[in-house]
This record gives sequence, structure tokens and C-alpha cells, in this order.
Amino acid sequence: MEKLLEIKNMSVSFEKDKKTTKIVRNINLSVNRGEILAIVGESGSGKSVTVKSLMSLLPEYAHVEADGVYFDGRDIMEMSPADKRKIYGKDISMIFQDPMTALNPLKKIGSHLIEVIKRHQKISTREAKILAVKMLQEVGIAAPEERMKQYPHEFSGGMRQRVLIAMALCSHPKLLIADEPTTALDVTIQAQILKLLKTLHKKEDMDIILITHDLGVVASVADRIAVMYGGRIMEQGTKEEILYDPKHPYTKALLKAIPKSDTARGTKLEAIAGSIPSFADLGEGCPFADRCEHASVRCKNANIGRNIFSETHSSSCVLKEIEKIEQGA
Ligand SMILES: Nc1ncnc2c1ncn2[C@@H]1O[C@H](COP(=O)(O)OP(=O)(O)OP(=O)(O)O)[C@@H](O)[C@H]1O
Ligand SMILES: [Mg+2]
Repeated sequence: MEKLLEIKNMSVSFEKDKKTTKIVRNINLSVNRGEILAIVGESGSGKSVTVKSLMSLLPEYAHVEADGVYFDGRDIMEMSPADKRKIYGKDISMIFQDPMTALNPLKKIGSHLIEVIKRHQKISTREAKILAVKMLQEVGIAAPEERMKQYPHEFSGGMRQRVLIAMALCSHPKLLIADEPTTALDVTIQAQILKLLKTLHKKEDMDIILITHDLGVVASVADRIAVMYGGRIMEQGTKEEILYDPKHPYTKALLKAIPKSDTARGTKLEAIAGSIPSFADLGEGCPFADRCEHASVRCKNANIGRNIFSETHSSSCVLKEIEKIEQGA
């Protein structure tokens, strides 16, 4: 399978007050062409840090290490800041959780779009305006000419998110990173936005990384799922492998915490017993060890490995024998 993005062994740490805290550890992740990858995990698991590091959006005190981060065949880590800028906002676009903060309240919706369009194409304002109307239509906003003249506060939350999607699409990105794009919206609107993303994914030939802590979201749109916890990828696989044949105790616990297959969209993951560990206390061992019913001393101390179940399915559990334990062997 051809890969649009391949992250090889990436770690991210923050250096503050002469103290280094490792947040993201040894991430291996890829996005194949033609797919939607979901990154799922509880709050604070390192999802945003992971994708922000791809876009150089982390503060200066963040330190990113990797064996390589390949986008479209080129290693981003080796690129000059100028070359990176050519990719960000063009080949890779990102939309964030809160559409209000991403829009200037004093600027009309039309101006937002025209500005982004003109950044990417050398065309007149009048031509950009025609394109802007088309973009608003594309993301399902009715009466777009009228809407162009309005301000962000005159739009509903769902409509603002549509505008942000339209802005992200202006550069015809190869990869769209959507960091919890529906969290602030109510359930029906969430479903509409996800449907829109899925439609645009096909129509625009654009791959997507969708970050969410909502398993209902994942089930409806993702092709593959990576489960994150404590800055690590605990398990990854196709949607079917993760939802119907989970291997890692953490994934299993997550799935157990929600109602069965007819789970309504918008269902939040419920808390698993115990609390999320502090990153300062985490070592090379499994971050879930303290909350895991199968954990042994080995789990906290050993380097967590990688168990491969199929070409697409892998988990990082120290207890390679976990299946046997569960089967009572
Ligand atoms: N700029 C920063 N400086 C210092 N620590 C940070 C910074 N950004 C994130 N962190 C820390 O990194 C950890 C992971 O944060 P991150 O934002 O990636 O979580 P997340 O999985 O996206 O959570 P959520 O679902 O709540 O958005 C957290 O402990 C957070 O406090
Ligand atoms: Mg986040």
C-alpha cells in the first residue's frame, strides 16, 4: 500500500525549567493513500502533540526526534523551514477543535476565504470571490453569496466548522488533519460534519487524520485506527481489527467502557478505573501498567515491544502471552 505519510520512531519532549519531560514516545504511524486514519485516545494522551509536531506547531521548548517523517516521499525532518512552510497550509492542512478562535470576529466570512485563496493562487480578488462562493457551496452552506457578507458570530457552530473546512480545502491539500473537529458541536451537527469530511475525502482525493475521543465517530468514518495512551500508540489496525478483535488490554478496556455495536454517535469514552499517569513519572515501560488488570512488574520496567498480528494490526503490550492468560491457559 502506498503511504502518503510515514512517521518512523518519533518522540517529542518538552524542556522547561531545565527539566525534560518526554511526552510522545517512539511513535510509528502511517497514512496510506486513500484512507482516513483515526487517532483515538483519552484527553492528555498526546494526540494533539503528535500532529502538531508534524506541522511544526509546537512551542520552541519542544524537542522532536525521529528516524524520519516522510510526507509524499520526502523527509520533513530534513527540510529547511522554507520548504516546510511550502507544505504546511498547502499539501497538509489542519483544522482545529474550536472554530471561533480560528476565525477573526472582525472579518467577514468572505474575506477569510478570499485571503486564503489568494495566498495559494495568483488571481484577482473578483476571481477569488467566485471561488470562495463555490467553496462555501461545496461545504454545504446555503445562500453562499449572502453568507460571504456576514461575520463569524452570525454563523452557528456547525456552520463555522464548515467554513474552516472550506478554508482548509482552498489549497487542495493531500492530507487534512482534523483535530477533534466535532467536539464542540451537538450530535446531529457532528454527524453532518463527519459525513461532509467523508464526502470531501473521496471527492477531493484527500487523505485525512481524524483525531477524536469519540468511538462512535471512529466507527462511522475511519478506515484505520491508532489507539494512543500516555504518549504511545498502544495498538493500531483496521477499523474492524480494532473494534472487533482488539488485542491490547487498554483497547479492550476502552471498548468495554462503551455500549455495544449500536452505540450512538457522540458517545464519549467512559473513564477506566484509576487515573492517567503523569508524564514525568513514565519510563520506558507500559504507561497503562498501573491501571491494567493483567500487569506484572515486567510491564512497568521492560521496554514495551511490538506484537504483530497481521500486516495491518499491531499492539505494544509487554505481555506477549496475554491471549493465553485470558484464555486461562
Ligand atoms: N505546549 C505545551 N507545553 C507543555 N506541555 C504540553 C504542551 N502541549 C501539550 N502538553 C502536554 O502534553 C500532554 C499531551 O497533550 P495533548 O494536547 O497532546 O493531549 P490530547 O491527547 O490532544 O488531549 P485532548 O483530547 O484533551 O485534546 C499533556 O500532558 C499536556 O499537558
Ligand atoms: Mg488534543
